[in-house]
Amino acid sequence: MSVRRTGVHAADHEATVIVCAGDGTLDYPVMVGPGLLSALPALLREHAPAHRYGLIADTTVAELYGSRVREELEHSGTKCDLITFPPGEASKTRSSWTDLTDALLATGMGRDGAVLALGGGVTGDLAGFVAATYLRGVPVVQIPTSLVAMVDAAVGGKTGVDVPAGKNLVGAFSPPRLVVADTATIGSLPRTERAQGLVEAVKHGAIVDASYLDVLEADLPALLDGDADVTTRAVLRSVAIKAQVVSEDERETGLREILNFGHTLGHALEAAADYALPHGTAVGMGMVLEARLGESLGVTRSGTADHLASIVVQLGLPLSPKSPTGRDAILGFVRSDKKARQGRARYVLLEVLGRVARAEGWSREIPDQEVESILEDWASRGKMP
Ligand SMILES: NC(=O)c1ccc[n+]([C@@H]2O[C@H](COP(=O)([O-])OP(=O)(O)OC[C@H]3O[C@@H](n4cnc5c(N)ncnc54)[C@H](O)[C@@H]3O)[C@@H](O)[C@H]2O)c1
Ligand SMILES: [Zn+2]
Repeated sequence: MSVRRTGVHAADHEATVIVCAGDGTLDYPVMVGPGLLSALPALLREHAPAHRYGLIADTTVAELYGSRVREELEHSGTKCDLITFPPGEASKTRSSWTDLTDALLATGMGRDGAVLALGGGVTGDLAGFVAATYLRGVPVVQIPTSLVAMVDAAVGGKTGVDVPAGKNLVGAFSPPRLVVADTATIGSLPRTERAQGLVEAVKHGAIVDASYLDVLEADLPALLDGDADVTTRAVLRSVAIKAQVVSEDERETGLREILNFGHTLGHALEAAADYALPHGTAVGMGMVLEARLGESLGVTRSGTADHLASIVVQLGLPLSPKSPTGRDAILGFVRSDKKARQGRARYVLLEVLGRVARAEGWSREIPDQEVESILEDWASRGKMP
Protein backbone atom coordinates (compact mmCIF):
# COMPACT_ATOMS: atom_id res chain seq x y z
CA MET A 1 0.00 0.00 0.00
CA SER A 2 1.42 3.31 -0.93
CA VAL A 3 -0.51 5.87 1.04
CA ARG A 4 0.67 6.69 4.53
CA ARG A 5 -1.17 8.86 6.97
CA THR A 6 1.06 10.65 9.39
CA GLY A 7 0.98 13.36 11.97
CA VAL A 8 -2.72 13.45 12.74
CA HIS A 9 -2.90 16.08 15.46
CA ALA A 10 -5.49 17.07 18.01
CA ALA A 11 -9.06 16.76 16.73
CA ASP A 12 -7.88 16.26 13.19
CA HIS A 13 -6.95 19.93 13.06
CA GLU A 14 -4.06 19.24 10.83
CA ALA A 15 -3.03 16.04 9.21
CA THR A 16 -0.95 14.73 6.41
CA VAL A 17 -1.43 12.11 3.79
CA ILE A 18 1.67 11.05 1.90
CA VAL A 19 1.07 10.31 -1.75
CA CYS A 20 3.56 7.99 -3.36
CA ALA A 21 3.94 8.79 -7.02
CA GLY A 22 6.09 6.82 -9.42
CA ASP A 23 8.92 4.78 -7.97
CA GLY A 24 9.00 6.52 -4.61
CA THR A 25 11.27 9.37 -5.66
CA LEU A 26 8.24 11.57 -6.26
CA ASP A 27 6.43 11.09 -2.93
CA TYR A 28 4.71 14.20 -1.75
CA PRO A 29 2.90 15.16 1.42
CA VAL A 30 -0.64 16.51 1.35
CA MET A 31 -1.25 18.65 4.44
CA VAL A 32 -4.81 19.43 5.40
CA GLY A 33 -6.06 21.69 8.18
CA PRO A 34 -7.53 25.07 9.04
CA GLY A 35 -5.00 27.92 9.21
CA LEU A 36 -2.22 26.14 7.33
CA LEU A 37 -1.51 29.17 5.12
CA SER A 38 0.24 30.80 8.07
CA ALA A 39 2.61 27.85 8.24
CA LEU A 40 3.43 28.08 4.53
CA PRO A 41 6.88 29.72 4.83
CA ALA A 42 8.04 26.95 7.18
CA LEU A 43 6.39 24.19 5.13
CA LEU A 44 8.06 25.45 1.96
CA ARG A 45 11.44 25.64 3.66
CA GLU A 46 11.07 22.02 4.69
CA HIS A 47 9.43 20.43 1.64
CA ALA A 48 10.03 22.67 -1.36
CA PRO A 49 12.96 25.00 -0.71
CA ALA A 50 13.64 27.40 -3.57
CA HIS A 51 15.62 30.52 -4.27
CA ARG A 52 12.41 32.36 -5.11
CA TYR A 53 8.77 31.59 -5.77
CA GLY A 54 6.33 32.50 -8.52
CA LEU A 55 2.93 32.66 -6.82
CA ILE A 56 0.12 32.20 -9.36
CA ALA A 57 -3.50 32.95 -8.44
CA ASP A 58 -6.67 34.21 -10.10
CA THR A 59 -7.58 37.78 -9.15
CA THR A 60 -10.35 36.70 -6.72
CA VAL A 61 -8.09 34.39 -4.74
CA ALA A 62 -5.15 36.81 -5.04
CA GLU A 63 -7.22 39.47 -3.31
CA LEU A 64 -8.48 37.10 -0.61
CA TYR A 65 -5.25 35.24 0.15
CA GLY A 66 -2.51 35.91 -2.41
CA SER A 67 -1.22 39.22 -1.16
CA ARG A 68 -1.12 37.89 2.39
CA VAL A 69 0.80 34.78 1.36
CA ARG A 70 3.28 36.88 -0.64
CA GLU A 71 3.81 39.27 2.26
CA GLU A 72 4.32 36.45 4.75
CA LEU A 73 6.90 34.82 2.47
CA GLU A 74 8.70 38.10 1.88
CA HIS A 75 8.56 38.76 5.63
CA SER A 76 10.31 35.47 6.28
CA GLY A 77 13.06 36.51 3.86
CA THR A 78 11.83 34.59 0.82
CA LYS A 79 11.51 36.29 -2.55
CA CYS A 80 8.03 35.87 -4.00
CA ASP A 81 6.31 37.40 -7.03
CA LEU A 82 2.52 37.32 -7.31
CA ILE A 83 1.20 36.80 -10.84
CA THR A 84 -2.54 36.88 -11.47
CA PHE A 85 -5.06 36.03 -14.19
CA PRO A 86 -8.84 36.51 -14.50
CA PRO A 87 -10.91 33.86 -12.64
CA GLY A 88 -12.87 31.13 -14.39
CA GLU A 89 -12.55 28.18 -16.73
CA ALA A 90 -12.26 30.60 -19.68
CA SER A 91 -8.74 31.38 -18.45
CA LYS A 92 -7.54 27.77 -18.68
CA THR A 93 -6.03 28.29 -22.12
CA ARG A 94 -2.76 28.21 -23.98
CA SER A 95 -2.94 31.98 -24.16
CA SER A 96 -3.00 32.25 -20.34
CA TRP A 97 -0.13 29.75 -20.24
CA THR A 98 1.79 32.09 -22.55
CA ASP A 99 1.03 35.19 -20.46
CA LEU A 100 1.90 33.51 -17.17
CA THR A 101 5.09 31.98 -18.54
CA ASP A 102 6.21 35.34 -19.95
CA ALA A 103 5.36 37.09 -16.68
CA LEU A 104 7.37 34.51 -14.77
CA LEU A 105 10.33 34.89 -17.13
CA ALA A 106 10.14 38.66 -16.59
CA THR A 107 10.61 38.16 -12.84
CA GLY A 108 13.92 36.46 -13.60
CA MET A 109 13.01 33.26 -11.75
CA GLY A 110 15.55 30.59 -12.64
CA ARG A 111 15.64 26.81 -12.39
CA ASP A 112 16.21 27.17 -8.65
CA GLY A 113 12.75 28.68 -8.33
CA ALA A 114 9.37 27.05 -7.79
CA VAL A 115 5.76 27.77 -8.68
CA LEU A 116 3.06 28.10 -6.05
CA ALA A 117 -0.43 27.37 -7.42
CA LEU A 118 -2.85 29.13 -5.06
CA GLY A 119 -6.53 28.71 -5.89
CA GLY A 120 -9.15 26.42 -7.37
CA GLY A 121 -8.72 23.67 -9.91
CA VAL A 122 -8.30 26.11 -12.78
CA THR A 123 -5.26 27.63 -11.09
CA GLY A 124 -3.89 24.22 -10.13
CA ASP A 125 -4.14 22.89 -13.68
CA LEU A 126 -2.86 26.07 -15.34
CA ALA A 127 -0.05 26.92 -12.92
CA GLY A 128 0.90 23.24 -12.75
CA PHE A 129 1.29 23.21 -16.53
CA VAL A 130 3.31 26.44 -16.41
CA ALA A 131 5.62 24.81 -13.84
CA ALA A 132 5.89 21.60 -15.88
CA THR A 133 7.17 23.51 -18.89
CA TYR A 134 8.98 26.52 -17.40
CA LEU A 135 12.70 26.17 -18.16
CA ARG A 136 11.85 22.52 -18.94
CA GLY A 137 10.24 22.07 -15.55
CA VAL A 138 10.44 23.55 -12.06
CA PRO A 139 8.77 22.22 -8.89
CA VAL A 140 5.17 23.13 -8.17
CA VAL A 141 3.43 23.35 -4.82
CA GLN A 142 -0.34 23.03 -4.95
CA ILE A 143 -2.21 25.26 -2.49
CA PRO A 144 -5.89 24.47 -3.20
CA THR A 145 -8.52 26.93 -1.94
CA SER A 146 -11.68 25.40 -3.47
CA LEU A 147 -13.28 22.14 -2.42
CA VAL A 148 -12.98 20.78 -5.98
CA ALA A 149 -9.26 21.44 -5.85
CA MET A 150 -8.82 20.01 -2.33
CA VAL A 151 -10.71 16.75 -2.85
CA ASP A 152 -9.74 16.21 -6.45
CA ALA A 153 -7.61 18.49 -8.62
CA ALA A 154 -4.60 19.09 -6.36
CA VAL A 155 -3.77 15.39 -6.00
CA GLY A 156 -2.79 13.16 -8.89
CA GLY A 157 -0.36 15.27 -10.89
CA LYS A 158 -2.57 16.01 -13.90
CA THR A 159 -2.09 19.53 -15.24
CA GLY A 160 -3.10 21.20 -18.46
CA VAL A 161 -5.29 23.57 -20.41
CA ASP A 162 -8.46 23.48 -22.50
CA VAL A 163 -8.20 23.81 -26.28
CA PRO A 164 -10.85 24.31 -28.99
CA ALA A 165 -10.99 20.54 -29.57
CA GLY A 166 -11.93 19.87 -25.94
CA LYS A 167 -11.24 20.31 -22.26
CA ASN A 168 -7.90 19.30 -20.72
CA LEU A 169 -6.52 18.01 -24.01
CA VAL A 170 -3.06 19.58 -23.74
CA GLY A 171 -1.05 19.13 -20.57
CA ALA A 172 1.45 17.12 -18.59
CA PHE A 173 1.68 14.76 -15.67
CA SER A 174 3.44 16.88 -13.09
CA PRO A 175 3.16 15.68 -9.48
CA PRO A 176 3.48 18.53 -6.97
CA ARG A 177 6.31 18.70 -4.43
CA LEU A 178 3.83 19.46 -1.68
CA VAL A 179 0.09 20.09 -1.29
CA VAL A 180 -1.13 22.48 1.41
CA ALA A 181 -4.91 22.60 1.86
CA ASP A 182 -5.94 25.30 4.33
CA THR A 183 -9.54 24.30 5.00
CA ALA A 184 -10.31 27.69 6.59
CA THR A 185 -10.23 29.13 3.05
CA ILE A 186 -13.40 27.16 2.25
CA GLY A 187 -15.19 29.68 4.47
CA SER A 188 -15.04 32.30 1.70
CA LEU A 189 -15.98 29.90 -1.09
CA PRO A 190 -19.57 30.35 -2.34
CA ARG A 191 -21.93 27.58 -1.14
CA THR A 192 -22.69 26.48 -4.70
CA GLU A 193 -18.96 25.96 -5.28
CA ARG A 194 -18.78 23.85 -2.10
CA ALA A 195 -21.56 21.64 -3.46
CA GLN A 196 -19.56 21.17 -6.67
CA GLY A 197 -16.61 19.78 -4.71
CA LEU A 198 -18.82 17.64 -2.50
CA VAL A 199 -20.08 15.75 -5.57
CA GLU A 200 -16.55 14.37 -6.09
CA ALA A 201 -16.34 13.49 -2.39
CA VAL A 202 -19.63 11.58 -2.70
CA LYS A 203 -18.14 9.79 -5.70
CA HIS A 204 -15.14 8.75 -3.57
CA GLY A 205 -17.48 7.22 -0.99
CA ALA A 206 -19.63 5.58 -3.68
CA ILE A 207 -16.72 3.81 -5.34
CA VAL A 208 -14.71 2.55 -2.38
CA ASP A 209 -15.98 3.52 1.05
CA ALA A 210 -19.63 3.21 2.08
CA SER A 211 -18.86 4.35 5.63
CA TYR A 212 -17.35 7.57 4.27
CA LEU A 213 -20.56 8.10 2.29
CA ASP A 214 -22.57 7.74 5.53
CA VAL A 215 -20.35 10.31 7.25
CA LEU A 216 -20.68 12.71 4.31
CA GLU A 217 -24.46 12.39 4.35
CA ALA A 218 -24.59 13.09 8.08
CA ASP A 219 -22.20 16.04 7.73
CA LEU A 220 -23.71 17.58 4.58
CA PRO A 221 -25.25 20.64 6.26
CA ALA A 222 -21.96 21.50 8.01
CA LEU A 223 -19.98 20.83 4.82
CA LEU A 224 -22.27 23.08 2.79
CA ASP A 225 -21.80 25.76 5.49
CA GLY A 226 -18.04 25.48 5.09
CA ASP A 227 -17.33 24.31 8.66
CA ALA A 228 -13.52 24.06 8.72
CA ASP A 229 -13.17 21.06 11.04
CA VAL A 230 -15.80 18.94 9.31
CA THR A 231 -14.32 19.96 5.96
CA THR A 232 -10.85 18.94 7.14
CA ARG A 233 -12.07 15.45 7.99
CA ALA A 234 -13.80 15.02 4.63
CA VAL A 235 -10.87 16.39 2.62
CA LEU A 236 -8.50 14.03 4.43
CA ARG A 237 -10.64 11.02 3.61
CA SER A 238 -11.14 12.03 0.00
CA VAL A 239 -7.45 12.75 -0.46
CA ALA A 240 -6.55 9.40 1.06
CA ILE A 241 -8.93 7.64 -1.33
CA LYS A 242 -7.80 9.51 -4.44
CA ALA A 243 -4.16 9.19 -3.38
CA GLN A 244 -4.49 5.47 -2.88
CA VAL A 245 -6.10 4.98 -6.25
CA VAL A 246 -3.65 7.14 -8.22
CA SER A 247 -0.67 5.81 -6.28
CA GLU A 248 -1.53 2.33 -7.41
CA ASP A 249 -2.01 3.51 -10.96
CA GLU A 250 0.02 6.56 -11.88
CA ARG A 251 -0.80 6.61 -15.58
CA GLU A 252 -4.43 5.67 -15.72
CA THR A 253 -4.06 2.15 -16.97
CA GLY A 254 -6.38 0.34 -14.65
CA LEU A 255 -7.62 1.12 -11.17
CA ARG A 256 -7.68 4.87 -11.76
CA GLU A 257 -10.63 4.25 -14.07
CA ILE A 258 -12.90 3.87 -11.05
CA LEU A 259 -12.55 7.62 -10.47
CA ASN A 260 -14.55 8.02 -13.70
CA PHE A 261 -17.74 6.75 -12.07
CA GLY A 262 -20.51 9.17 -13.11
CA HIS A 263 -18.16 10.82 -15.59
CA THR A 264 -18.95 8.98 -18.84
CA LEU A 265 -22.48 10.37 -18.90
CA GLY A 266 -21.47 13.41 -16.79
CA HIS A 267 -18.91 14.58 -19.36
CA ALA A 268 -21.38 13.96 -22.18
CA LEU A 269 -24.06 16.02 -20.40
CA GLU A 270 -21.54 18.82 -19.85
CA ALA A 271 -20.51 18.82 -23.50
CA ALA A 272 -24.09 18.51 -24.77
CA ALA A 273 -24.98 21.57 -22.67
CA ASP A 274 -22.04 23.39 -24.23
CA TYR A 275 -20.46 23.55 -20.75
CA ALA A 276 -23.30 25.65 -19.35
CA LEU A 277 -23.70 22.83 -16.81
CA PRO A 278 -20.98 22.94 -14.11
CA HIS A 279 -18.85 19.79 -13.89
CA GLY A 280 -20.01 18.75 -10.40
CA THR A 281 -23.65 19.23 -11.34
CA ALA A 282 -23.20 17.11 -14.45
CA VAL A 283 -21.34 14.39 -12.51
CA GLY A 284 -24.12 14.33 -9.89
CA MET A 285 -26.60 13.56 -12.68
CA GLY A 286 -24.10 11.17 -14.29
CA MET A 287 -23.70 9.13 -11.09
CA VAL A 288 -27.46 8.73 -10.72
CA LEU A 289 -27.88 7.77 -14.39
CA GLU A 290 -24.97 5.31 -14.35
CA ALA A 291 -26.38 3.75 -11.18
CA ARG A 292 -29.74 3.36 -12.98
CA LEU A 293 -27.88 1.79 -15.87
CA GLY A 294 -26.20 -0.66 -13.52
CA GLU A 295 -29.51 -1.48 -11.89
CA SER A 296 -31.18 -2.11 -15.25
CA LEU A 297 -28.34 -4.48 -16.19
CA GLY A 298 -28.65 -6.33 -12.89
CA VAL A 299 -25.11 -5.30 -11.88
CA THR A 300 -25.94 -2.63 -9.30
CA ARG A 301 -28.03 -3.33 -6.21
CA SER A 302 -31.48 -1.82 -6.65
CA GLY A 303 -32.09 1.36 -4.67
CA THR A 304 -28.58 2.67 -5.30
CA ALA A 305 -29.65 5.28 -7.86
CA ASP A 306 -32.44 6.58 -5.61
CA HIS A 307 -29.99 6.86 -2.72
CA LEU A 308 -27.51 8.83 -4.85
CA ALA A 309 -30.34 11.01 -6.17
CA SER A 310 -31.37 11.90 -2.62
CA ILE A 311 -27.79 13.01 -1.84
CA VAL A 312 -27.69 15.15 -5.00
CA VAL A 313 -30.93 16.81 -3.88
CA GLN A 314 -29.52 17.41 -0.38
CA LEU A 315 -26.56 19.11 -2.04
CA GLY A 316 -29.02 21.52 -3.60
CA LEU A 317 -28.11 20.35 -7.09
CA PRO A 318 -30.58 19.54 -9.89
CA LEU A 319 -31.26 15.99 -11.09
CA SER A 320 -31.69 17.12 -14.70
CA PRO A 321 -30.63 20.08 -16.82
CA LYS A 322 -33.05 22.99 -17.26
CA SER A 323 -32.99 22.54 -21.00
CA PRO A 324 -32.40 18.83 -21.57
CA THR A 325 -30.42 17.86 -24.64
CA GLY A 326 -31.50 15.12 -27.01
CA ARG A 327 -30.48 11.53 -26.47
CA ASP A 328 -28.58 11.41 -29.74
CA ALA A 329 -26.47 14.43 -28.89
CA ILE A 330 -25.59 12.94 -25.50
CA LEU A 331 -24.71 9.57 -27.07
CA GLY A 332 -22.60 11.34 -29.69
CA PHE A 333 -20.56 13.01 -26.96
CA VAL A 334 -20.30 9.72 -25.06
CA ARG A 335 -18.61 8.15 -28.10
CA SER A 336 -16.20 11.04 -28.63
CA ASP A 337 -15.08 11.06 -24.96
CA LYS A 338 -11.30 10.86 -24.84
CA LYS A 339 -11.52 7.79 -22.64
CA ALA A 340 -13.61 5.88 -25.19
CA ARG A 341 -11.70 3.03 -26.80
CA GLN A 342 -12.17 2.77 -30.58
CA GLY A 343 -15.20 5.02 -30.31
CA ARG A 344 -16.83 2.77 -27.72
CA ALA A 345 -17.57 4.36 -24.38
CA ARG A 346 -16.70 2.59 -21.17
CA TYR A 347 -18.67 2.77 -17.96
CA VAL A 348 -17.72 2.22 -14.36
CA LEU A 349 -20.64 0.50 -12.62
CA LEU A 350 -21.20 0.06 -8.90
CA GLU A 351 -22.00 -3.26 -7.34
CA VAL A 352 -23.29 -1.52 -4.22
CA LEU A 353 -22.54 1.85 -2.68
CA GLY A 354 -18.88 1.62 -1.66
CA ARG A 355 -17.85 -0.98 -4.24
CA VAL A 356 -17.26 -0.97 -7.99
CA ALA A 357 -18.32 -4.04 -9.96
CA ARG A 358 -15.40 -5.61 -11.80
CA ALA A 359 -15.80 -6.35 -15.49
CA GLU A 360 -13.01 -6.64 -18.08
CA GLY A 361 -10.91 -4.48 -15.75
CA TRP A 362 -12.72 -1.79 -13.81
CA SER A 363 -14.93 -0.51 -16.60
CA ARG A 364 -17.02 -2.07 -19.34
CA GLU A 365 -18.65 -1.33 -22.66
CA ILE A 366 -22.41 -1.09 -22.66
CA PRO A 367 -24.55 -1.36 -25.81
CA ASP A 368 -25.99 1.96 -26.93
CA GLN A 369 -29.56 0.64 -26.70
CA GLU A 370 -29.21 0.13 -22.94
CA VAL A 371 -27.95 3.66 -22.46
CA GLU A 372 -30.65 4.99 -24.78
CA SER A 373 -33.39 3.38 -22.75
CA ILE A 374 -32.01 4.91 -19.53
CA LEU A 375 -31.92 8.34 -21.16
CA GLU A 376 -35.44 7.82 -22.53
CA ASP A 377 -36.69 6.80 -19.12
CA TRP A 378 -34.99 9.89 -17.70
CA ALA A 379 -36.84 12.13 -20.15
CA SER A 380 -40.17 10.38 -19.63
CA ARG A 381 -40.00 10.80 -15.84
CA GLY A 382 -40.47 14.49 -16.45
CA LYS A 383 -36.74 15.08 -16.78
CA MET A 384 -35.93 13.30 -13.53
CA PRO A 385 -33.26 10.58 -13.72
N1 LIG B 1 -6.16 17.95 -12.46
C1 LIG B 1 -7.16 17.24 -12.03
O1 LIG B 1 -7.03 16.07 -11.70
C2 LIG B 1 -8.51 17.89 -11.92
C3 LIG B 1 -9.53 17.27 -11.20
C4 LIG B 1 -10.76 17.92 -11.07
C5 LIG B 1 -10.96 19.15 -11.64
N2 LIG B 1 -9.95 19.73 -12.35
C6 LIG B 1 -10.13 21.04 -12.96
O2 LIG B 1 -10.48 21.97 -11.95
C7 LIG B 1 -11.24 23.01 -12.53
C8 LIG B 1 -12.41 23.31 -11.64
O3 LIG B 1 -11.92 23.67 -10.36
P1 LIG B 1 -12.68 24.73 -9.45
O4 LIG B 1 -14.11 24.36 -9.37
O5 LIG B 1 -11.91 24.90 -8.21
O6 LIG B 1 -12.65 26.04 -10.38
P2 LIG B 1 -11.94 27.45 -10.17
O7 LIG B 1 -10.50 27.33 -9.98
O8 LIG B 1 -12.40 28.30 -11.31
O9 LIG B 1 -12.60 28.01 -8.84
C9 LIG B 1 -13.99 28.27 -8.79
C10 LIG B 1 -14.26 29.73 -8.39
O10 LIG B 1 -14.03 29.86 -6.99
C11 LIG B 1 -13.16 30.94 -6.72
N3 LIG B 1 -12.44 30.57 -5.51
C12 LIG B 1 -11.50 29.61 -5.36
N4 LIG B 1 -11.16 29.50 -4.07
C13 LIG B 1 -11.90 30.42 -3.39
C14 LIG B 1 -12.01 30.76 -2.02
N5 LIG B 1 -11.35 30.11 -1.06
N6 LIG B 1 -12.87 31.77 -1.68
C15 LIG B 1 -13.61 32.40 -2.63
N7 LIG B 1 -13.55 32.10 -3.93
C16 LIG B 1 -12.69 31.11 -4.30
C17 LIG B 1 -12.32 31.10 -7.95
O11 LIG B 1 -11.83 32.42 -8.07
C18 LIG B 1 -13.33 30.75 -9.06
O12 LIG B 1 -14.09 31.89 -9.37
C19 LIG B 1 -11.63 22.56 -13.91
O13 LIG B 1 -10.85 23.23 -14.87
C20 LIG B 1 -11.28 21.09 -13.93
O14 LIG B 1 -10.91 20.61 -15.21
C21 LIG B 1 -8.74 19.13 -12.48
ZN1 LIG C 1 -14.82 15.08 -11.94
